[in-house]
Amino acid sequence: MNDLTGEPVYLDHAATTPMVPAAIEAMTRHLSDVGNPSSLHASGRRARRVVEEARETIALALDCRPGDVVFTSGGTEADNLAVLGVLERRPGSAVCSAIEHHGAFFVDNLPHRSD
Ligand SMILES: Cc1ncc(COP(=O)(O)O)c(C=O)c1O
Repeated sequence: MNDLTGEPVYLDHAATTPMVPAAIEAMTRHLSDVGNPSSLHASGRRARRVVEEARETIALALDCRPGDVVFTSGGTEADNLAVLGVLERRPGSAVCSAIEHHGAFFVDNLPHRSD
């Protein structure tokens, strides 16, 4: 509980975290846009431009290359991408503890051991 406001203090940022106002503003600016970034027509190219500009902004903030930034639809997809990517390069090299989030623990097609 916040002593000053009496409001509950949210601490579970590992599960989800409040968005900063700049992120909310950036997203809401495009929520009514129509366009599939994979489409070749004008609305698709506009959508692609927005995605690529976002990728470049994030890459700049993270000091990496835009090609290193991968957008996923959620946590489980990101877990799959990360764990299976490691396994592809180094088969048998991934270890997952029993306290891991289910999204990572049940990565598609990953053999599991309970010990
Ligand atoms: C590590 C991890 N994987 C997966 C998820 C699940 O995310 P989603 O529902 O977006 O797949 C979460 C959510 O908290 C998570 O923390």
